[in-house]
Amino acid sequence: MPVPSPSWWQTAVVYQVYIRSFADGSGDGIGDVQGLRQRLPYLAELGVDAIWINPWYPSPMADAGYDVADYRDIEPSYGTLDEAQAAIAEAHTLGIKVLLDIVPNHTSDQHAWFRAALSGQPQARARYHVRPGRGAGGELPPNNWQSIFGGPAWTRLPDGDWYLHLFAPGQPDLNWEHPEVRAEFEDILAFWFDRGVDGFRIDVAHGLVKKAGLPDTVSAAPGSLVESNEGHPAWDQDGVHEIYRGWRAVADRYAPERIFIAEAWVGSNERLARYLRPDELHTAFQFDFLRTPWRAEVMRAVIDDAIGAAATVGAPPTWVLSNHDVTRTVTRFARSQPEHLVGTDWERNRWADEDPDHALGRKRARAAALVQLALPGTAYVYQGEELALEEIEDLPDDVRQDPTWAQSGFTDVGRDGCRIPLPWTDTAPPYGFAAESGSATWLPQPAHWGEHSVEAQERDPDSTLNLYRAALALRRTMWRDAGDVKWLTVAPDVAAFERGGAQCWVNTGDADVALPDVATVALASAPGVDRVLPPDCAVWLHSGTPTD
Ligand code: GLC
Repeated sequence: MPVPSPSWWQTAVVYQVYIRSFADGSGDGIGDVQGLRQRLPYLAELGVDAIWINPWYPSPMADAGYDVADYRDIEPSYGTLDEAQAAIAEAHTLGIKVLLDIVPNHTSDQHAWFRAALSGQPQARARYHVRPGRGAGGELPPNNWQSIFGGPAWTRLPDGDWYLHLFAPGQPDLNWEHPEVRAEFEDILAFWFDRGVDGFRIDVAHGLVKKAGLPDTVSAAPGSLVESNEGHPAWDQDGVHEIYRGWRAVADRYAPERIFIAEAWVGSNERLARYLRPDELHTAFQFDFLRTPWRAEVMRAVIDDAIGAAATVGAPPTWVLSNHDVTRTVTRFARSQPEHLVGTDWERNRWADEDPDHALGRKRARAAALVQLALPGTAYVYQGEELALEEIEDLPDDVRQDPTWAQSGFTDVGRDGCRIPLPWTDTAPPYGFAAESGSATWLPQPAHWGEHSVEAQERDPDSTLNLYRAALALRRTMWRDAGDVKWLTVAPDVAAFERGGAQCWVNTGDADVALPDVATVALASAPGVDRVLPPDCAVWLHSGTPTD
């Protein structure tokens, strides 16, 4: 029997469009649907298979759109529903699939349901977690849970009751035990599937169901996207899987197929695999890759672990080097490297007093991209990675927008530094982000931003943009259907693997490493790599085995 060819989503390169910072068609300094439509040809030329668009629904922007006021419309400053439909259709014409971001753990506090809850109707309150407080006068929160962004996960209402928000106060958590909540989200999925959307990235997919009775956590340490999960009564409860079985049934009514990708920060790959059972979600982000220090042995272990876990449930592994929540790859690799996986907030706070070497970080980020794109499964590219943008760590405090900054009592600068509007031209601010020169962008761009622009990089044959374009084109023939990873033993600081007849080598050490005589270099992360692989570089090799 012929082996069925994999579905697109099993091997895709998915480009993450952080719409607020991608391209601004209206000239107000905020990215929008019009800007996205204008730049779709750029994405087609880059060679991506799909885009995932961060939330584009009406929102008061308490958390950059992850506080949704209406799941069936478009944020007015981003455009209209008609424009969104045109964007979906135009992407499809260019051969690009479209994934949206669904935010089911919480709504905005401006959502009609929460406004009804505030008006005191008990039946409306039942859709959220509203509880009396503890203490004689109910003046203490109902339990000891902390918000991911800092401070208590509870806010008191004027009538004395408290409501739960695992994130910002403007993001009340929904009560997924309520049948109307379940029915509503299945209907929202169908609304967008009917408009041609190919799937959803599910925000905080592991958080929807809370342990009955909302008991205290054993450790009331401040929340964190990475570290808070194990054993916490708000995360990864078994009841969540029934919700996804319902969602899968909705998706399975459609052709061509509609898919789900889970953002689930769970304690282990085994727990993650439970989300990927045949009647649940299609894929899930495996975030260890974006926490891997620049060390070959850790990289190898992370890759093996992710492939092994995905294989147990027959799902493709997913590879993420960065996203809108974590320090940009260039900057992560620009400082001394620990021996263990790093936490996202750990990076932001503890490295502040070591100056970043961005040239070094950029070299390593380019090499890491070649590793990522040679692996089996799906690869996610966060906008600006193809330009090797660095984290902007010196934003003035008064322009910071991430709720983390205020909620952490001004101790955690948050995620604004990886969300700076993209530079498209190397002229003057806003560097082609908006058509109007001189218009202020929602987060300020640094003065050197034009150097990293698409325009500047198109002129330079050795630019990161041209590296990504070459890699994405070559990936289709060299790696996409190439089979399993087979590790090669080369040197302790080199991670080298073979798939099909091709090899990928990366050198995380500080000495040159000889490449095999019989191999030819198909692509290298740095110019001039031929017989020797220098430190902080990666290569793709055509056929041949090492002859040491
Ligand atoms: C996810 C998003 C993040 C958001 C949070 C709350 O982790 O990626 O940006 O702040 O959920 O919705």
